[in-house]
Amino acid sequence: MTEHVRIVEVGPRDGLQNERQAVDVETKVSLIERLVAAGVTHIEAASFVSPKWVPQMAGSADVMQKISRPPHVQFSALTPNLKGLEAALRAGCDEVAVFGAASEAFSQKNINCSIAESLDRFREVANAAISGGIRLRGYVSCVMGCPYEGNVDPAQVVQVALRLLDMGCQEISLGDTIGRGTPSATKALLDACLRRIPATQLAGHYHDTYGMAIANIAASLEFGLRTFDSSVAGLGGCPYAVGASGNVATEDVVYLLHGLGFETGIDLHRLADTGRFISDAVGRTSASRVARALDKGGR
Ligand code: HMG
Ligand code: MG
Repeated sequence: MTEHVRIVEVGPRDGLQNERQAVDVETKVSLIERLVAAGVTHIEAASFVSPKWVPQMAGSADVMQKISRPPHVQFSALTPNLKGLEAALRAGCDEVAVFGAASEAFSQKNINCSIAESLDRFREVANAAISGGIRLRGYVSCVMGCPYEGNVDPAQVVQVALRLLDMGCQEISLGDTIGRGTPSATKALLDACLRRIPATQLAGHYHDTYGMAIANIAASLEFGLRTFDSSVAGLGGCPYAVGASGNVATEDVVYLLHGLGFETGIDLHRLADTGRFISDAVGRTSASRVARALDKGGR
């Protein structure tokens, strides 16, 4: 039987949070609905963070209210604190994600507190998410390098990940926030993580700043990971990691996975149309190599 790989589409959140120009609610809704039509079943659609910190995500409640909600699709949101969690529950999210870091400096810049303070805060969010009956995901940022501190020890990633699992996160998404990772760094990271955490509870979230994300996914597949975060057209970056490019493009990941014989449930051509739609809407050239090849008549 063909093995399934789960793609978590983070373009509407990780992608659009970093656009200079505001993207209106209708465009976000249309993006999400096109992703669903292309077969995507996990979409990070919203982020209930402070609008002073990330103004691009201010319309998240409206987006959640306006999208259709087919029951087979899970919609998730970032929630840094209880205020965010309450907004996500009101919006009817299926899943929320707390987002910590393996680097102190990044934690301070991104969420204005230390790693230890963030974990205390996340425990409250976790308890409320569990009482609210929704899934909980935990991110660890800077798993292969920090824009402020440089190298990051995989042991530090494991420590933060274990704390997030202990408070009830069902899955840990390993964020290569600045895309500095290489396949050998990915192997070192996963060697350390897999000693304590099963592959079924890990997801790869690789930004493509150095063009290594696809190679890092291929390396992660060898270690048994079967969930990857990606962003249609490679949109985005992180507002608190200057210079970091978007996530690996979903089109490129789907092409890789299908080529390796995995099944994703996603129609590559409809996905590429979706990438074209959002690239036009934000006035960018798609960062997806596969989408650009298809545009030139590739199949
Ligand atoms: P703070 O300033 O320390 O918090 O920010 P505060 O509690 O003092 O609140 C400040 C103001 O924000 C108050 O408003 C709060 O009400 C409001 P005021 O009284 O001044 O009018 N506020 C909120 N408003 C809406 N929703 C909320 C919320 N919380 C407070 N949930 C805080 C702390 C965490 C809120 C802030 O630092 C923040 O929002 N940070 C978010 C940064 C962010 O979203 N970064 C990008 C996402 S992470 C990422 O991209 C990495 C990832 O992709 C993985 C990877 O690639 O590595 C996940
Ligand atoms: Mg990210």
